[in-house]
Amino acid sequence: MTEPTSKGILISTAQDLRGRTAVVTGSSSGIGRAVAERLASEGVFVVLSGRDATSLHECAKRISDAGGKSVSVVTDIRDAKAVQGLVDTALKETGRLDIFVNNAGVSYLGNILDAEPESWTNMLETNVFSLLVGCQAAVRAMRASANPGHIVNISSVAALSPESGVYGATKHAVNVITNTLRAELVDDPIQVVTVMPGLVATNIGRNVDPAIVAGLVAMSGLEAEVRPGARLPDEVLQAAQAALGEIMIRPEDIAEGVYFAVSQPAGVHIAEIVIRPNKDFEL
Ligand SMILES: NC(=O)c1ccc[n+]([C@@H]2O[C@H](COP(=O)([O-])OP(=O)(O)OC[C@H]3O[C@@H](n4cnc5c(N)ncnc54)[C@H](OP(=O)(O)O)[C@@H]3O)[C@@H](O)[C@H]2O)c1
Repeated sequence: MTEPTSKGILISTAQDLRGRTAVVTGSSSGIGRAVAERLASEGVFVVLSGRDATSLHECAKRISDAGGKSVSVVTDIRDAKAVQGLVDTALKETGRLDIFVNNAGVSYLGNILDAEPESWTNMLETNVFSLLVGCQAAVRAMRASANPGHIVNISSVAALSPESGVYGATKHAVNVITNTLRAELVDDPIQVVTVMPGLVATNIGRNVDPAIVAGLVAMSGLEAEVRPGARLPDEVLQAAQAALGEIMIRPEDIAEGVYFAVSQPAGVHIAEIVIRPNKDFEL
């Protein structure tokens, strides 16, 4: 919608998202949880998904405590049927799907020559394969309803670097897939956006060298056990972000970008957003 200001200048105003339905993959932690909470705060019904039931239910409780609505689906999105199941849940619960956020992702850093091939399988299946299936399932549901829709693909600034390893390669793939899908959807009322975060205080580091994560914990000034594959408590991540604000932003900062992209007036298509801290940090 475009509204005149008191000085007669035309400005764009955000769309009202109440009554819409979103699927957010990887909403049991970090960026996905913040996106789910942000959309729910605008009256969007959110289908939450992740593998960790306890964290997922905590997210659902935070949403309901704030007056929002969601349903939780505990699932591994490397299974194509599970991704379709998220869309089916949205349709069963609300009869519609307006927003699909492909956010779930994993990161293993390090040299190609020293890596475990299983880490490549996990990154390719989670960051690329499940995103492709999510895009396809979402477009089919959105086309069936003929409502305008948004697909949000969470990439990374690693996609802007030509030497960002296998993780970066998966995010280059996300950007290529998103651009290709946008071209395929040019005659549909479905918009596709790539969101490229810089370093964000989340649990994405759960598979990186524990010594690096221990350094992060030390900077938080709090005590926390660092175990490979395990999450850090929210308060540790928040304290680390507060201490390292120049190089690390908050999940809520990315959620704000996602909300901006999906709430634009019809006809305004936000194609790409890069959200980064003031200074880049190289692991
Ligand atoms: N944090 C950063 O600095 C940063 C920067 C650029 C881009 N990103 C991207 O942002 C996205 C979100 O990551 P994050 O930073 O929020 O990390 P995070 O805190 O580790 O969250 C990752 C989410 O993905 C889910 N997930 C991973 N594998 C899954 C699977 N096989 N099935 C279902 N869910 C799965 C996790 O759920 P469970 O734990 O419940 O399985 C969790 O909810 C990722 O795509 C990541 O690449 C992050």
